[in-house]
Amino acid sequence: MFTQRGVSIIGTGSYVPEQVITNQDLEKMVDTSDQWIITRTGIKERRRAAAHEATSDLCYQAAVKALDSAGVAPEELDLIIVATVTPDMLFPSTACLLQEKLGAQKAAAFDLEAACTGFIYGLAVGSQFIATGMYEKVLVVGAEVLSSIVDWEDRNTCVLFGDGAGACVLGPAKPGEGILSLYLGADGSGGHLLYLPAGGSRKPVARETVENKEHYIKMCGNEVFKFAVRVMGEASMKALEQAGLSKEDIDFLVPHQANIRIVDAAIKRLELPREQVYINLDKYGNMSGASIPVALDEAVNEGKISSGDTVLLVGFGAGLTWGAAVIRWTA
Ligand code: ACO
Repeated sequence: MFTQRGVSIIGTGSYVPEQVITNQDLEKMVDTSDQWIITRTGIKERRRAAAHEATSDLCYQAAVKALDSAGVAPEELDLIIVATVTPDMLFPSTACLLQEKLGAQKAAAFDLEAACTGFIYGLAVGSQFIATGMYEKVLVVGAEVLSSIVDWEDRNTCVLFGDGAGACVLGPAKPGEGILSLYLGADGSGGHLLYLPAGGSRKPVARETVENKEHYIKMCGNEVFKFAVRVMGEASMKALEQAGLSKEDIDFLVPHQANIRIVDAAIKRLELPREQVYINLDKYGNMSGASIPVALDEAVNEGKISSGDTVLLVGFGAGLTWGAAVIRWTA
């Protein structure tokens, strides 16, 4: 896919906060049940950041591990991209805050927002800089403190989300190794299906926006569900096609971890056995931009992905956005 030079993931890392919120904890907060949550979503528990932890703190923990596994020093980084919908603040970017924490003085830094597809978008953007020869080492982080924008009185959303961060370091690769294809999509006409109404220039913070709970996630779950099932399959097939491969060539799938029923639909479409799919949504819920990189890092650490494997990453999110990547694993 890259005509200039190949791009590979040379290290991964992840971090989830310590505090565990179980379904039983949620039963005490809203009108829900452990059984409803497990049957409709597959989620058993999720993590919540401590009061002193912001997104850049989670990024830092994941980034240090990714740099360590890549054998790359922070000073060697040319670029830091953070994919998040929960930045520490509107500006400066969380990537700049992370650059300072890491001491990555040489690195350019910016945030990217594609919701749950953010990590795949980040991978696509970061890769271009290496493929063209402009940069040698790029850090891509997907991180969220979704607990800060979840309405803990809304049972439709509060059971779904969790906090966490995942990171990878990108470097040059031989042709035919590393990232074989990247497919991205967006459809702004579905923006109203999943959004956070206030706090931006459209509806600046005001007493009224706070009283109306407009600083929390609003979601039309059913519509997002139908969209997700459709695009997870479509994006996977497009990325495979671009790589000149078919579904039989997949060794391992790392899907976005929103809902077990959405993952199962993707598995069915790709005709994959469950053993070839990484699932951790039972432990963490949906961590938006952090879901895929955390799952990828855990899969690598558990020895589920080996050198030479063909790995498919696929996700969807607010925007609406979607994307997939096919990687010939080298790390
Ligand atoms: N506990 C008990 N009942 C609940 C809960 C809950 N936590 N949440 C909703 N219900 C109720 C609803 O009120 C509804 O009741 P009603 O029929 O009396 O009105 C009933 O359960 C059924 O609701 P549905 O929305 O039809 O349930 P569904 O099977 O679609 O599951 C869910 C809901 C889990 C939200 C599902 O639609 C889903 O996973 N959608 C995708 C969401 C998603 O992935 N979002 C993240 C996108 S990525 C990003 O960018 C952040």
